[in-house]
Amino acid sequence: MARDCMRIIGGTALSGEVSVSGGKNTSVAAIPATLLADGPCVLENIPDIDDVHALIDILRSLGAQVSFDADRNVMKVDPTTVNTCVVSRENAQRLRASYYLMGALLGRLGEAEVPLPGGCPIGPRPIDQHLKAFRALGAEVDDEGGVVHMKAPELMGSLISFDIVTVGGTINAILAAAKAEGVTLIQNAAREPHVVDVANLINSMGGKVRGAGTAMIRITGQRHLRGTNYAVIPDQIETGTMMIAAAATHGDVTIHNCIPVHMESLTAKLLEVGVRVSAEDDVIRVWDNPRQAHRAVKVTTQAYPGFPTDLQQPFSALLTTASGVSKIEETIFEQRFRHLDELVRMGARVDVRDSVASIEGVPRLIGTSVTVTDLRAGAGLLVAGLMAEGETVILEPHFIDRGYDHVVEKLSGLGARISREVLE
Ligand code: EPU
Repeated sequence: MARDCMRIIGGTALSGEVSVSGGKNTSVAAIPATLLADGPCVLENIPDIDDVHALIDILRSLGAQVSFDADRNVMKVDPTTVNTCVVSRENAQRLRASYYLMGALLGRLGEAEVPLPGGCPIGPRPIDQHLKAFRALGAEVDDEGGVVHMKAPELMGSLISFDIVTVGGTINAILAAAKAEGVTLIQNAAREPHVVDVANLINSMGGKVRGAGTAMIRITGQRHLRGTNYAVIPDQIETGTMMIAAAATHGDVTIHNCIPVHMESLTAKLLEVGVRVSAEDDVIRVWDNPRQAHRAVKVTTQAYPGFPTDLQQPFSALLTTASGVSKIEETIFEQRFRHLDELVRMGARVDVRDSVASIEGVPRLIGTSVTVTDLRAGAGLLVAGLMAEGETVILEPHFIDRGYDHVVEKLSGLGARISREVLE
């Protein structure tokens, strides 16, 4: 059977300029959010990735009219023709972010039937906090049999106090509360850039979401939200992946269309490793002395503004050749170390105890055949392949297609020897 792969001949220092696409995790929330509007919406800067295409199919299955110009990254959604609140199991399981249909449909129709979401296998990913938020807003919620049924003839503003910081839960609560009667307060809210972006999108529809970006968000629900034209923010994780790839290959890369302030936790770690980073307006440059070894560091993943779990995997690839022993503590997802087994096959020296990985730097990685297990594991293997001596064949690259827009073309543009191929 034919299998897709990415083939990399490693060892080239990346150099040149690259432009970052629109944010995946903001787009996958913004697209369902258009369902809250009473008129057509235009979203700009939407990346051409599989998760976006899955959402287009879901919105169409609900009766919305959707067009996507992937060359211009512009999506148009007319939600006025939505005629059902039921998402199929097959569609829901195509991506994690299908859970945003819960908040969006509840807000639009007062009713939703959405199976539990799919997404990357990175550990148990419950949605109890999302359901707690919907219940607080007055919805009757029944999640028997893997399908969440919700009904709320009228959503009522309320206090939602999250037991943990959850990005998806915070955004889902905003989506439903935007159309609830009265005021909702979200306590212990996630502060990620995409939470702020979704709040700005809803505000551009005439919504009233205040305090996004802090731990306390206040939403005054609106009976009507109008259609809007909104450009989503650049992808924080693609920016970080490019920064890490530049550093890991001892290159010199200038990254355009990014938001440097979103990258501060990574920038701090790159500086500790010994890499140089500068930033101005929407541009970041990462460059490195080819003869100087990187230094081992300690990293703990945290909610924003801490070090993002989504960058842990590509960053750990860089650390495989840093001199000394690096420690990575993964506090968000239990199974986000699966890429390390593949890095070991490339010569990395790794010891995992519970949620802490110790990585002892080796002089070099050696290319071999490796398999992607989830999206950011894929980013880790891309970085490792670029660093390694010889040829790396990355199997199951479809995980990477979920979230990286034209990554092969972008890395090729920086001088990487990378191609997408079909293995017979
Ligand atoms: N959690 C619960 N109950 C809930 C919700 C979350 O226990 O109801 C736990 C999770 O299991 C996890 C922690 O809380 O341990 C944080 O989860 P969160 O809800 O913040 O994550 P998520 O919404 O499932 C989003 C991104 C992830 C990203 C995380 C953390 C989307 C579609 N996904 O996931 O992105 O890693 O936030 O920043 O926005 C990726 O892009 O590769 C990716 C996995």
